[in-house]
Amino acid sequence: MQLTQLNRECLLHLCSFLDKDSRRNLSRTCHQLLEVFLDHRLWNLLHFSSPSQLKRDNFVLGPSLRCLTICWYSSRVLQVCNIEDWLKTSFQKDICGKHERLVSTFLAHVCIMCPNLLHLTLSGCGHITDQDLISVLQSCRKLRSLHLENCVRITDCILEEGVVAHGNSLEELKVDFCRNITQVGLQTVRENRPGIQLSAERSADMIPDSKPEEKVPLRRMLQKVLQFS
Ligand SMILES: *[C@@H]1O[C@H](CO)[C@@H](O)[C@H](O)[C@H]1NC(C)=O
Ligand SMILES: *[C@@H]1O[C@H](CO)[C@@H](O)[C@H](O)[C@H]1NC(C)=O
Repeated sequence: MQLTQLNRECLLHLCSFLDKDSRRNLSRTCHQLLEVFLDHRLWNLLHFSSPSQLKRDNFVLGPSLRCLTICWYSSRVLQVCNIEDWLKTSFQKDICGKHERLVSTFLAHVCIMCPNLLHLTLSGCGHITDQDLISVLQSCRKLRSLHLENCVRITDCILEEGVVAHGNSLEELKVDFCRNITQVGLQTVRENRPGIQLSAERSADMIPDSKPEEKVPLRRMLQKVLQFS
């Protein structure tokens, strides 16, 4: 018996065990397998571990997507892009600029194509903004869990204008190593959405970014206080 004699359901099931590349390769062998590749039911789970993977044509975004993970743990890009802007050399800014809109653009597609998303994990996505995530919460109304780790641009705004305003289905929220999240933002979530299981082990104790010159007035103020005490 040949592979292509199997019905669509069987082929979908078989393909579900393959990685993105293998699915893509298989789809190039015949029309029937291309149709299986393009069937959105094959794509309920997507995991990306490097920026370049987002640009490949080896996956399909569709209404079956339930679980999406973008984790750039060890990527060099991540290390460069996570440096505070004012500390970056122009070379580093250059490298980083190339990825600036990559995840944001991808998430914008998710907003349109994947209304049934339940779980979203973003780790090391140094460029995504509050607005990107507010849009996701507005579009993916069933989202149950949101895990953010090491996303440096994320601020309390996502908590107030995203989670509190649109997180009706959210059951779990994790913000780790997001240095621009503060206790104030976390408290707002606790008060307004008490049903959400919130964990923020490594956020809100971190020192948010600020340019060196912005710290000077504080130091002067402290000096004055010390002089008069
Ligand atoms: C898919 O095909 C490409 C090009 O022929 C090949 O380099 C690659 O190893 C294949 N990948 C898998 C997982 O089969
Ligand atoms: C963190 O927040 C500060 C103050 O709101 C802002 O100036 C800075 O740009 C933010 N950091 C990043 C990496 O966006």
